[in-house]
Amino acid sequence: MSDFIKVANVDEIQPGGRLSVVVEDYPVLVIRVGDDFFAIEDACTHDGQPLTNGPVSGREITCPRHGARFDLETGRALCMPATEPVRTFPVEVRDGAVYVKAEED
Ligand code: FES
Repeated sequence: MSDFIKVANVDEIQPGGRLSVVVEDYPVLVIRVGDDFFAIEDACTHDGQPLTNGPVSGREITCPRHGARFDLETGRALCMPATEPVRTFPVEVRDGAVYVKAEED
């Protein structure tokens, strides 16, 4: 079992912004869309490309290497060449800070 770990203050990630962090050895990309925060593993399931700089549109991120798209909320692969979902992590916002939990209980 792991706990939620603070990764940033809310005002450090502006709407449309993102932050790369490491949470319990996972490279995690935290993305803010409006007032919603998402956390995904920062590695494309097609060939491991970091998604760090991938364009975000709505609630989808596009891999900058070959163009696979992933749903930020579920991790689902939305188009080829990726077929496997990207890992997602639970996010909590409380007391002006963003917390990510690396592993499910
Ligand atoms: S590495 Fe991401 S689509 Fe190929």
